[in-house]
Amino acid sequence: MCGIIGGICKDNITPILLSGLKRLEYRGYDSAGVVVLSNDNKLSRARAVGKVVNLETSIQKQSPKIQGSLGIAHTRWATHGEPSTQNAHPHICFDTVSVVHNGIIENFLKLKQEQKAQGYAFTSDTDTEVIVHSIHQALKTSESLLKAIQKVVKTFEGTYSLGVISSEYPGHIVVARSGSPLIIGISDKGNFIASDQVALLDITKKFIFLKEGDTADITLNSITIYNQNDRQINRAIKTSNLKNNQIDLGDYKHYMQKEIFEQPQAIRDTLESRITKDTVLLSAFGHHAETIFTNTEHIQIIACGTSYNAGLVAKYWLEDIAKMPTNIEVASEYRYRNPIVLDNTLLITISQSGETADTLEALKSIKKRHKNIHTLTICNCAESSLTRESELILLTHAGPEISVASTKSFTTQLASLALLSVAIGKCHKQVDKQQEASIVDSLNRLPGLIKKTLEQESQIIELARSFKDKFNAIFLGRGTMHAIAMEGALKLKEISYIHSEAFPAGELKHGPIALIDKDTPVIAIAPNDQLLDKLKSNLQEVKSRGSQMIVFEDEMSNVPPMKNMTVMSITHNLGRITAPIIFIIPLQLLSYHVALIKGTDVDKPRNLAKSVTVE
Ligand code: G6P
Repeated sequence: MCGIIGGICKDNITPILLSGLKRLEYRGYDSAGVVVLSNDNKLSRARAVGKVVNLETSIQKQSPKIQGSLGIAHTRWATHGEPSTQNAHPHICFDTVSVVHNGIIENFLKLKQEQKAQGYAFTSDTDTEVIVHSIHQALKTSESLLKAIQKVVKTFEGTYSLGVISSEYPGHIVVARSGSPLIIGISDKGNFIASDQVALLDITKKFIFLKEGDTADITLNSITIYNQNDRQINRAIKTSNLKNNQIDLGDYKHYMQKEIFEQPQAIRDTLESRITKDTVLLSAFGHHAETIFTNTEHIQIIACGTSYNAGLVAKYWLEDIAKMPTNIEVASEYRYRNPIVLDNTLLITISQSGETADTLEALKSIKKRHKNIHTLTICNCAESSLTRESELILLTHAGPEISVASTKSFTTQLASLALLSVAIGKCHKQVDKQQEASIVDSLNRLPGLIKKTLEQESQIIELARSFKDKFNAIFLGRGTMHAIAMEGALKLKEISYIHSEAFPAGELKHGPIALIDKDTPVIAIAPNDQLLDKLKSNLQEVKSRGSQMIVFEDEMSNVPPMKNMTVMSITHNLGRITAPIIFIIPLQLLSYHVALIKGTDVDKPRNLAKSVTVE
């Protein structure tokens, strides 16, 4: 993972690099660093542990000032080597070459041994340092920085996006990408590179999205791109429709809070042009969708984290609504086994970023091994690696999600998966007009229902107070609510560091009930469905063990009040589509307010990153 930014411009580049780095912090914030080529042709560097603001402070104190028109910068999520100044990028070799890297060089140990034997000294524990030494070595026999980089990348196993500058080639920044994202931004201030468009939105809307294996030589007035065979190639310039204010906090205290409250609009945007008042439009999934869906006999979903939890809900929907056999697995496991993939499988990837390495690699490896399958991605980023690798694309239109903890991505993924369940059900004649109209009606009611649920925030703030001294929590749910319980537990552990686990309520008695004591709150979700009575019995089992309980119920569920139990009615008449999407809202708010009480860094919780582009 990690975020990189760089460029060459007419003025001092340092402020542009720092402001871009702040926007890339969602990719990691263990350390940050910058290297700028000064006017007297020297590489000047600053690095600091922690967030970009620490780097900024250190730069302000530095004399002489770090300034110049050519530079690269990096925000790190540690993989090889602890978060420390020594391990922070950019790395420099012999004061002449400097590199920022996102990805992992898997054969770095072998390269390191060879380079040590050649006399290169290592100052960090990172895999990246071999890159800078390789380039330095290759420059001795190459006619340009570009040629040296094209030569060395062929010796790397693993993934990389690279930004490289050298005092021997002032005026050039050279980039390469394979397996990690990299874009070029074109502005009247100069030419820039970054891991993501958001880093450059202040200065440009014009971007080139590099493809796998591309390298590019960038100067103030030129951008020359080469494909994986080192042949010069044209790549289209696209105009981004991302708005700068979409990534500003506005009146909110945290991005997570803003994104929770954006959900009614995010769902509206996701549904727009995809449904009429009573039908789901198959065209929303692309030209060939109808044929592909009609021929689909099995579904395999792969995803990670929150996106995996959305897929868990979808498994219920796809089997219940579309009657389509559906499996789901976390991508990091799926990619490393030999799964049996039946012909006519639709392989669905779900991802906010579209860059999660495990999901992407799982998709690539299955595509390579199985020809008679089709692929669909449900993704929030139009120009991402997953959208490029997939035949069918359904964008979630949640807008940029900055907070590491996913919220609006999850609910828009669910809305998209509900559309998909109906679409596939229609192609297989499992969904009649009446059922379709009723599901579309539920989807249309979602923004209003979410808004109403958000209005109950003050009650949730009260509930959050009781978590102040808690170290463990248990979430319970049955059916799709088990997936929602998992997502609720993930949110709480991610941002408040309370150890939280979710269980199917019926499974409690087979082991997890041993964990229950008065200091372990139990949070249960009680929709008014066919499993309600079973859930009520499970709640009795918990109550007998003296735990503090919080139950989020449908008003019609009528969970009987018990000692040490708070029952909060969310709304009423939620159905199989609306219930999972609505019941996650109080759990998101609960985690947010518990995190505030615990005083954690809500948007940037420790050890995490939003987009994990390494294994
Ligand atoms: C990281 C994030 C999670 C996210 C997961 C999958 O681990 O911290 O919040 O759910 O990646 O990300 P994706 O972009 O593929 O949905």
